[in-house]
Amino acid sequence: MASADQLKALLKSHIDGDDGHFFAVAMQMAAHEAKLGHGKLAEELRGMIDAAKAGSVPVVSGKRPTPIAQPRGELAGLLDAYYPKARLTEMVLDDSTSERLQRLIKEQRNFSKIQAHGLSPRRKLLLVGPPGTGKTLTASVLAGELGIPLFVVRLDALITKFMGETAAKLRQIFDCIASVRGVYFFDEFDAIGAQRGFGNDVGEIRRVLNSFLQMLEQDESNSIIIAATNHPQSLDYALFRRFDDVIQYGLPNQVQIVELLKAKLSGFNIAKPSWSSLAKIADGLNHAELTRAVQEAIKDAVIHDREILTSADLKKTLEERKAVQQHLLPKQP
Ligand SMILES: Nc1ncnc2c1ncn2[C@@H]1O[C@H](COP(=O)(O)OP(=O)(O)O)[C@@H](O)[C@H]1O
Ligand SMILES: [Mg+2]
Repeated sequence: MASADQLKALLKSHIDGDDGHFFAVAMQMAAHEAKLGHGKLAEELRGMIDAAKAGSVPVVSGKRPTPIAQPRGELAGLLDAYYPKARLTEMVLDDSTSERLQRLIKEQRNFSKIQAHGLSPRRKLLLVGPPGTGKTLTASVLAGELGIPLFVVRLDALITKFMGETAAKLRQIFDCIASVRGVYFFDEFDAIGAQRGFGNDVGEIRRVLNSFLQMLEQDESNSIIIAATNHPQSLDYALFRRFDDVIQYGLPNQVQIVELLKAKLSGFNIAKPSWSSLAKIADGLNHAELTRAVQEAIKDAVIHDREILTSADLKKTLEERKAVQQHLLPKQP
């Protein structure tokens, strides 16, 4: 029989909508059964897992979106809709970021009370920071916590696909923001800046940015508007003033690394972990890379029918991630 920890982990990953973890726990249970000599049951479980994986749907931040009405007509292709189940507790954040997100959630939950006093709750956020530190996940978490859909807007697609009519398309998106309450996520905002290098019409890009600023300012909807960028230096300074809050994301410190490793291991035992030395090895990796390293270690253990991870397993996958990172970094002269 599966252990109590496995059952709890299985249930938790299902409730969280975390498919990756759900399948990993299920594989671990199959390995456990194989070890007990229940080969047929183990095979059946593995078969079910493989079949389920083959039929899985696109994901945002590893979460399976509940199908909801997708935008149709002209908006299709500009907006993707999801219903994330992500929760704030699954994020490792510094205290100030966590407090600011909690404040936004609280204000949103008390929307009518606040509006009754002629005030408006916070709902326009700019998220700034390096890749893999939780900006996209934050958009999912806010939608998940508030039980409203997440609409992902691809600004770079908007610009390249609709050269000359992007402002009009943006207007349609803002009309949607006003008519359907949701979290609207303008990802890769820096794409506006980056486009300049590709011979596109600079005038067009400025116009789009200016239209966006204007529409953002005029927007009095009940939706939450989030923009994210890895390169704040490429953004117009005027942009920052239009947001209720600008939140800075960064690489995890040593304490946060350990917190993240533990969280991502939930349900999997690790023999005599030496957290501080693991954290030292992991220094410089972002949240996404750490998550990936833990998943790789779990996968490896599952494949080899091992139920317990060791520090050495994690050390290996963390070092692999570091090596990939070194490889991708520009060479120092
Ligand atoms: N702060 C965080 N806390 C916990 N997990 C995180 C965090 N940031 C990133 N992750 C993990 O890394 C994945 C990718 O992060 P993402 O939000 O897409 O980063 P970004 O948008 O900043 O590039 C997430 O789905 C999650 O599994
Ligand atoms: Mg992102």
